Amino acid sequence: MYFTEIKLRNFRNYKEQTVSFHPKVNIITGNNAQGKTNLLESLYIMSLGKSFRTNKDAEMIGFEEGFCSAKSTYMKEGRERSVEIILSRVGKSIIIDGSKAKKSSELLDKIYIVAFTPEDMKIVKDEPERRRKFIDRELCQLKPVYYKNLARYKKVLIQRNSLLKEGSCNEELMEIWEKSLAEYGSRIIIERKHFVDKIKEVSKEIHRSITDEKEELDLFYEASVPYMEKREDLQSAFIEKLKKERKRDIYRGNTGYGPHKDDLKITIDGVDVRNYGSQGQQRTAALSLKLSEIHIIREEKKEAPVLLLDDVLSELDEKRQKFLLNNLSDVQLFITAAEMKGNLWNSLPDKRIFKVEEGNANSCCDEILEEKRFDNDKI
Ligand SMILES: Nc1ncnc2c1ncn2[C@@H]1O[C@H](COP(=O)(O)OP(=O)(O)O)[C@@H](O)[C@H]1O
Ligand SMILES: [Mg+2]
Repeated sequence: MYFTEIKLRNFRNYKEQTVSFHPKVNIITGNNAQGKTNLLESLYIMSLGKSFRTNKDAEMIGFEEGFCSAKSTYMKEGRERSVEIILSRVGKSIIIDGSKAKKSSELLDKIYIVAFTPEDMKIVKDEPERRRKFIDRELCQLKPVYYKNLARYKKVLIQRNSLLKEGSCNEELMEIWEKSLAEYGSRIIIERKHFVDKIKEVSKEIHRSITDEKEELDLFYEASVPYMEKREDLQSAFIEKLKKERKRDIYRGNTGYGPHKDDLKITIDGVDVRNYGSQGQQRTAALSLKLSEIHIIREEKKEAPVLLLDDVLSELDEKRQKFLLNNLSDVQLFITAAEMKGNLWNSLPDKRIFKVEEGNANSCCDEILEEKRFDNDKI
């Protein structure tokens, strides 16, 4: 699938603008703080209705404006389709192919996006939350039912936590929350474990190939509740654990076990990369994971996702940049970069280049590109 156009109104620093995209490669250049990442963000929200920079939707509304909208047009299975997201200070509307959606979850399974940002570079090094989010986002794109279970789990977790904070325990109510928590939680854990088993094989291959067969990447899902293959067993073990730890949870005022505490362990040649890997290894592992994400979506959905690369190319060495760009011939790419240095761009055959200035994205014609290329060569 690929985007053909985005129409923005009051979206961050874009007032009113329509941008038409190239089906293969779109390079977005411009100085800092002009709107390059904002443009990627407007595309990103099309997949799950959420930004990669903020949990507060209203931050995307232009300063001093009451609402904003982003309408994307895209091609999928040979047909032109559209998704429009309208944000006001009080809520969000989603319009899919001209009809208003009743729930955000209707967005699922429409547009597949993988984003790779400087934040994702920290996936290996950061706290477990980032790795959980990585798995969750991917599973939400792959399985709408996962999205629902996750939302239910989060809701029940809040309810159990507020009961814990009250201190004196209402046994009956507590048991109800714990049963639901274990039910949704066990579904989440099993899906995550299966996903990790899948991405482990893919990323192992990719990582081998990036490192010229020198490094062996491995992934393990680390569940905070003893893992069991059968869901009913896992659910019972989870209930047991919650019951056993209830006193401690009351003392802490929150739930100490469950998918919201799990982690993804990443090793290279058997050594934990988070604690012992070099920065280079951590970045390469992040790259392998991102490329695996693309691979899995392509396999499961029979459709290549769109890839957004926000300021990450410059953080990879030339070899890894080439590996990335050469392995994505069927993927529509959006690449932001403050400057276009080196010959990397010349190796991309079909592309459109945009210059972003103060919330205006204008495509440059190919002649300008030729001049720029010439200038670069002289330098
Ligand atoms: N809600 C908003 N309304 C208007 N302008 C915004 C909003 N949010 C961010 N901006 C502006 O967008 C600019 C940053 O855009 P960004 O896309 O992150 O820049 P870059 O080109 O460096 O990627 C800043 O000038 C910031 O003030
Ligand atoms: Mg930026």
